[in-house]
Amino acid sequence: MRITLRVNGIDYEIEVPPRRTLADALREECGLTGTHLGCEHGACGACTVLVDGDAVRSCLMFAVQCDGRAVRTVEGLAAPDGSDHPLQAAFSAEHALQCGFCTPGFLMLAAGALENDPGIAEDPERLRELLTSNLCRCTGYEAIRRAVVRAARAGGALP
Ligand code: FES
Ligand code: FES
Repeated sequence: MRITLRVNGIDYEIEVPPRRTLADALREECGLTGTHLGCEHGACGACTVLVDGDAVRSCLMFAVQCDGRAVRTVEGLAAPDGSDHPLQAAFSAEHALQCGFCTPGFLMLAAGALENDPGIAEDPERLRELLTSNLCRCTGYEAIRRAVVRAARAGGALP
């Protein structure tokens, strides 16, 4: 099927089989390999991207479901001049990256949350619950939590 994915503001006209996942289409057809695949069955959250502003697991969505919709991936976080998004700067400052495999998913999960519900960063219980939806095998959750709070205080919502 011929579809158009609008990823980070750029239209990608691609041809995919109906059962191609969004994650695979982003990586293979669009060449955007920042979105990582861990479990490929919805458990780990490494593949999290934003579709129309909401965080989704891109391994559980078909690319055809996103035809004509706005997708944001980790490649779209930095400002056009290349400067870090507040979340990227905060992850670096708080040492919230270890192996880094889960990091794109956490960044997009946090970006969606801060955009839709900025108050979540000041509500420890809800923030903790949000972060449990993604897995970091290095168990660096405390640094990730601190980074999201830091980014929110620095204006961490998506531009
Ligand atoms: S790769 Fe999608 S949730 Fe793990
Ligand atoms: S930084 Fe290693 S899995 Fe998250």
